Amino acid sequence: MTSPWTGPDARAAGAAHAPAAAQDAEAVGAPHAAVSPGKAVPGAVPGDDAGGRRAEDVGAGGVGGGVERTRGTGFKDPSLRRSLALFRAFLQEQEDPESCYTLLARDAANQVEAYGPVEGRVVVDVGGGSGYFTEEFRRRGAHAYLFEPDVRELGPAPAGSTVVADGYLLPLADGVADVCFSSNVLEHVADPQTFLSELVRVTRPGGLIYVSFTNWLSPWGGHEWAPWHYLGAERARARYRRRTGRDAKHALGENLFAVHIGSTLRQVRARDDVEVVTARSRYWPFLASAVAKTPGLREFATWNLLLILRRCPP
Ligand SMILES: C[S@@+](CC[C@H](N)C(=O)[O-])C[C@H]1O[C@@H](n2cnc3c(N)ncnc32)[C@H](O)[C@@H]1O
Repeated sequence: MTSPWTGPDARAAGAAHAPAAAQDAEAVGAPHAAVSPGKAVPGAVPGDDAGGRRAEDVGAGGVGGGVERTRGTGFKDPSLRRSLALFRAFLQEQEDPESCYTLLARDAANQVEAYGPVEGRVVVDVGGGSGYFTEEFRRRGAHAYLFEPDVRELGPAPAGSTVVADGYLLPLADGVADVCFSSNVLEHVADPQTFLSELVRVTRPGGLIYVSFTNWLSPWGGHEWAPWHYLGAERARARYRRRTGRDAKHALGENLFAVHIGSTLRQVRARDDVEVVTARSRYWPFLASAVAKTPGLREFATWNLLLILRRCPP
């Protein structure tokens, strides 16, 4: 497999696209996107707070301890140790979201960097919530921008590279992103195919699209009311309310949708504007691709599907 980072041409393309993105964000931004006050918009080079540890360093020190960087050949995902660290972090998510999402962001950035360094690249994080992933990409030297439609998700102090915008209609020109990144958003949109098409549109030919989602039949498919969703969404929500005294954040058909692995794979494979680079369980330590290839089993055993697509030339 060839790396999407194709050297000087790719860098030039990223640089050349950036001003177009900025103009577009400003032009289209007025009606439906708010850029956080006084800060950069996509295409502008963000304040250089990047730097920090590189993928190799993260690999040495933390969750990516077993991550083998195989640039140009995809990535052999990693060790049991990595999966256990992620699993432990998920269990602590409510008590310690900071540690959980910092770890997850490093892990996801490692997965992206298995295809080439993000330093100097334009990375667009769609539905990025409170920005842990965007921040991690910036720390690695990327020009990374967060697009998030719900201001309540942004947290108290969104970074300057934040744009309030819907993933269905990104205020970006075609092909501006070297990497279009979307973690755990697909199951929250009513029309995943239109959402995916928008991610593809803003990615340059040869660029990567990283999409992960928790499929409905995953043990975690019902989110905070899992695994009781297997008995039906309404029953599971009612149970959650009884147990916690609170309404669940997610409601099926409103902000959570039943997305399946088989149909999603068929739809992306039928497209002629992307190539499927990998389709695998995002968190599994072994057999991650094999599980995702097995109809039936994959719906229950994958937990979370990671799709890496490469934008085909027009
Ligand atoms: C489960 S959170 C994921 C946040 C973050 N990406 C992560 O992996 O931790 C789902 C996010 O998707 C966002 N979202 C929902 N609908 C969206 C849309 N149409 N376009 C972009 N983002 C959307 C939500 O506002 C929320 O921030």
